[in-house]
Amino acid sequence: MKNRVTEILNTKYPLIQAPMTWITDAKLVAAVSNAGGLGILGPNAGQHTLTSDPIETAERMRNEIRKTKELTNHSFGVNIISGGENSDKDNPYVNEILKVAFEENIKYFAIIGGEINKSLFDKVKENNGVIIFRPITPTPAMMREAEKAGADLLVATGFDEGGGLPGKSLGTFTVVPTMVDSVNIPVLAAGGINDARGVKAALALGAEGVYMGTRFIATQEAPSAHETKKAILDSGYENMELIGGTMRSILTKHAEKIQRKYENNEDTSRDVSGGFRIGMLEGKLDEGIVSVNTGIDVIKDIPTVKELVERLFEK
Ligand SMILES: Cc1cc2nc3c(=O)[nH]c(=O)nc-3n(C[C@H](O)[C@H](O)[C@H](O)COP(=O)(O)O)c2cc1C
Repeated sequence: MKNRVTEILNTKYPLIQAPMTWITDAKLVAAVSNAGGLGILGPNAGQHTLTSDPIETAERMRNEIRKTKELTNHSFGVNIISGGENSDKDNPYVNEILKVAFEENIKYFAIIGGEINKSLFDKVKENNGVIIFRPITPTPAMMREAEKAGADLLVATGFDEGGGLPGKSLGTFTVVPTMVDSVNIPVLAAGGINDARGVKAALALGAEGVYMGTRFIATQEAPSAHETKKAILDSGYENMELIGGTMRSILTKHAEKIQRKYENNEDTSRDVSGGFRIGMLEGKLDEGIVSVNTGIDVIKDIPTVKELVERLFEK
């Protein structure tokens, strides 16, 4: 399958494995790139502990990049969580990770942000990087601004997604064609795409590729705990609730507690942070959350990445 996205990504399929902080590592990312998509290392990829030191954070990323290179000859990318124009000037995490990524000849940058940071885009371009920009809350104006600022690919995310949710509760079927019509560069669809039907629907809506997170959590290579993978197989949208304005979880014991607070209009942002690592990497479901998309009813097995990718693009 050839189109503008496979050309830009130099991949067999127009597929990006979305960054998912702790739930990504060299093994998963290399498996996706070897299977014909583009794997992306998220922040804390391959880690089990948190460090607040930006240089250590970046050196850990260098280590994971090198491990990935040992497992694949194909390209892969790195995730950058960006703030607005001024907030990043002094963001040591962004600066250190970029420095390491450039030194390691990383070409693909999956940047997410609530705003467009033109100087960050310029820096990536000066280093011959490819910008895949995913606005947290997509709007046509923001898509146009990102296109003008030099993005190569854009991601349109619907509220169906797993992870931190967009600020507007618009589904993927609304968001994708609206964003596709607002720009000339290719748009990838994200949010709730878990099987070949989802891929076909995304392409029918005008997306030229898919950007998938949740489905990769339930694969053999994903670093997520077995308990977490099993919880995804055993759950559906009926076992899932919002536990904050921009966070949803399978109703683990811990998530139930947070959900009650959220229903009482209490601030739950502190309860949620750290939850991905405990609930999804360590598999301690009673103590953490499991943040996945609303389409998990259709996830019925734990295939290898290669099996999954081939299935997604079956004719
Ligand atoms: C557990 C989890 C963690 C995530 N962490 C990140 C992250 O660190 N950086 C990021 O840019 N997006 C993150 N996301 C969002 C994904 O990159 C992607 O947008 C989303 O998973 C796509 O929707 P889907 O899960 O329905 O496939 C995360 C998503 C999940 C499910």
